[in-house]
Amino acid sequence: MTLVNLAAILKHAQIGGWAVGAFNCNNLEILQAIIRAAEAEVSPVVVQASQGAIKYAELNYIAVLALEAARSASVPVAVHLDHGTSFEQVVRCVRAGFSSVMIDGSHLPLEENVALTRRVVQLARPVDVSVEAELGRIGGTEDDITVDEREAFFTEPDEAAYFVESTAVDALAVAIGTAHGRYRGTPRLDFERLSRIRARVAVPLVLHGSSGVPADAVREAISRGVCKVNIDTDIRQAFTGKIREVLAGAPAEIDPRKVLGPARETAVDVICEKIRLFGGSSHAKDV
Ligand code: G3H
Ligand code: 13P
Ligand code: ZN
Repeated sequence: MTLVNLAAILKHAQIGGWAVGAFNCNNLEILQAIIRAAEAEVSPVVVQASQGAIKYAELNYIAVLALEAARSASVPVAVHLDHGTSFEQVVRCVRAGFSSVMIDGSHLPLEENVALTRRVVQLARPVDVSVEAELGRIGGTEDDITVDEREAFFTEPDEAAYFVESTAVDALAVAIGTAHGRYRGTPRLDFERLSRIRARVAVPLVLHGSSGVPADAVREAISRGVCKVNIDTDIRQAFTGKIREVLAGAPAEIDPRKVLGPARETAVDVICEKIRLFGGSSHAKDV
């Protein structure tokens, strides 16, 4: 269909009570898998570039590939910066043609996060680029902290209300018990907190660190106001798992396409399943 911004998708997700899948893209094969899965499910989708992806694949390559994928896809696609680190990086992504950016000032004191996020909104809104911000700290499963220490970083509903009012962001990423990477145990989400945030904040909420979160918990989070669900680790695991399997069965294989092609197909299956779980299937025509 076309390149759209994140707000255009989230508006319909919020009304319809479903969530858009936001999938991290590190290379051509994963990008193709994201688009093929979204087309198979007739769902809008977000292709996002993380800091690691930008370092690995370079912003100019990611932008050209993802923007072309969006323009030629049969479904609406937002091209989004994941965990943007600075105003300058946002400017680079906007200039490259991204339709959406995340500015992650969650490590900053509240007022500095507000100031940075406001500055990004002032840049992005006039050129129709959506802005996601983060309040509270999501962190990684590898962080060496206790459950209590992690809870100290959870999003405070009153602060969320103040933050959204002060910044006018399009979407807010919340810390309610998820973390990036592979979980050691089963993550426990603070649904009650999510509902208190929802009661104070009108903008769509974003769940990061969603790989490895049980399906029922993901559904519950969506029913309580999450409209964008971020997935990276589950795709990486399936993709590299298939590469291992193919090479184990054909150790003499030298053609990368024979190895990466099956991995791409596996990624399509994983992403289709996520889109179905998030309730995005058949919603392409809403946007
Ligand atoms: O932000 C979450 C991503 O999964 C981190 O990915 O290692 O590519 O920066 P990265
Ligand atoms: P996972 O590591 O759980 O896939 O989270 C991805 C994410 O939140 C990207 O921003
Ligand atoms: Zn994240």
